[in-house]
Order: sequence, then C-alpha cells, then structure tokens
Amino acid sequence: MIYLKTPEQLELMRNAATLVSRTLGEIAKWALPGVTTRKIDTVAREFIRDNGGIPACLGYGGFPGTVCCEVNETVVHGFPSQYELREGDIFGADTVVELDGFCGDMCYTFPIGEVDEKVLALLRTTKESLYVGIEACRPGHRIGDISNAVQTYCERRGYSVVREMCGHGIGAKMHEDPEVPNFGRRGIGPVIRNGMCLCIEPMINMGSRNIVIERDGWTCRTRDRKPSAHYEHTLAIHDDITEVLTTFDYVAQELGDRFI
Ligand code: MF3
Ligand code: CO
Repeated sequence: MIYLKTPEQLELMRNAATLVSRTLGEIAKWALPGVTTRKIDTVAREFIRDNGGIPACLGYGGFPGTVCCEVNETVVHGFPSQYELREGDIFGADTVVELDGFCGDMCYTFPIGEVDEKVLALLRTTKESLYVGIEACRPGHRIGDISNAVQTYCERRGYSVVREMCGHGIGAKMHEDPEVPNFGRRGIGPVIRNGMCLCIEPMINMGSRNIVIERDGWTCRTRDRKPSAHYEHTLAIHDDITEVLTTFDYVAQELGDRFI
C-alpha cells in the first residue's frame, strides 16, 4: 500500500529531512582517523534528541545503534563499535530521524583522510548514480525507470549493483511501499506520482555484487571484501517536479575542500 502525502504531511516530511541532513553534518565533523564508530553513533543520537527528534534506527527490529556504520566492505546495517576509523577507510553513515511523526532517511559515504583514487572513483560514481536516479524519478515515470537508470550508470563504469537491498517509500514509517530497486527494467513497477515520498539509495560495489550477512544477523558485507559505497536521499514527488527533501549541503559545509 502506497501512502500519498497531503501538503501538511509533506511539510512534516521536510522538517524531518532537514533534521537528518543536519545530523549528517554533525557526523561529518567526526568522520576522521582515530574516531570510533561508537563515538559517531553517540554524537548523532544526542544531536537528534537535542533537536526534538527520535533516532528511528535505534531498536528498529533490534538494531543496536542510531547510525548504520558502513566501513569499507560493509554494504549496510553495520553496528557501531570500538572500531577506530583509519586513514584510507571509507565510512558510510546511514541514519533515519523521526520528527513529529514523520521520517527522513539519508546516507553519506565519507572518505577518511587520504583515500585511494580508485576507491574515490567508486564514491563519486555512486553519488552521481543517486542523482541519475533522482533525475529519472519524475511524475508519470515508473519505479523501474529509476532502477534502470542507476544500474546502467554504475555497470557502464565497471561497478556492480547490490540486489538484495533496495530503496523504499517513506513517511510515518521509515519503510513504506513501494520498493525502489537499484537494478531492473525501464517501464515496470508503480507509476511515480504526486504525494509519493521515496528514498533512493544505490549500494554499489567495486568487485562482484555478491553479499553475505554476518552472524550478528545484520551486518551486510561484500563477499569478496572489496569496498562498497552508499548514498541516499529522501524525495517528495509533486504534480510537475520531484523535490529532494534531504541535502548534502551541511556535509559539504563541514568538509569544505574534502567534499567530493
Ligand atoms: N536507510 C536504512 C534502510 O533503509 C536504515 C536502516 S535502519 C535499521 O534500510 F535500523 F534498519 F538499521
Ligand atoms: Co533507506
């Protein structure tokens, strides 16, 4: 069931999206060598609560953190831990904020210190593919148009697309219908229309697309242990345009010339 949002609900979605975007800006301050992912998780949790929000990942299905921590080969759903970020790592921070009953969901993958040029290229392509997906996400198009655009963009550049995890609808719940896969055929799936709110979140691998879930039941990593990148925005569809509700501007402000 796809829940279409009223203009009043969209206003609340905008507020939640702004708070999650600001949270990623806070995280950006700490995405540095020597910082533990647990510290970053604590900073995010406190920031969200100080601003009247609820850290929606915390306790979701038993997830033990505010931020899904995606270091190097971790694709999604890594636990915050004592792991200290190191020069050359990539660190994806994926988090959901609930504010006044509505959710904003966003992910940004940070290079930590100096990162190998090949890995930076994976980050750039993954981020670009998010915007390619957003471009395809227009009223009157279908979900498959987004999927196909992301897949084509990444595979042409020699990367592979994780298939087991998808983008999704969002609203009062962090995961609503429809699913938004990052691969598939153009012209299939639900029609994109006014009032829909969607998250697009390409998860793109340097090596093969295969993943494994660790014994903790959550942590998803690449089978070949090569790096994986992940970026995500929350969107609202109007009659004529698609509005990107989240923004990387707060991250860019913090990172300055380290922003890629
Ligand atoms: N953006 C992630 C997703 O859509 C958020 C997961 S929160 C968790 O799957 F609690 F499930 F980890
Ligand atoms: Co999501």
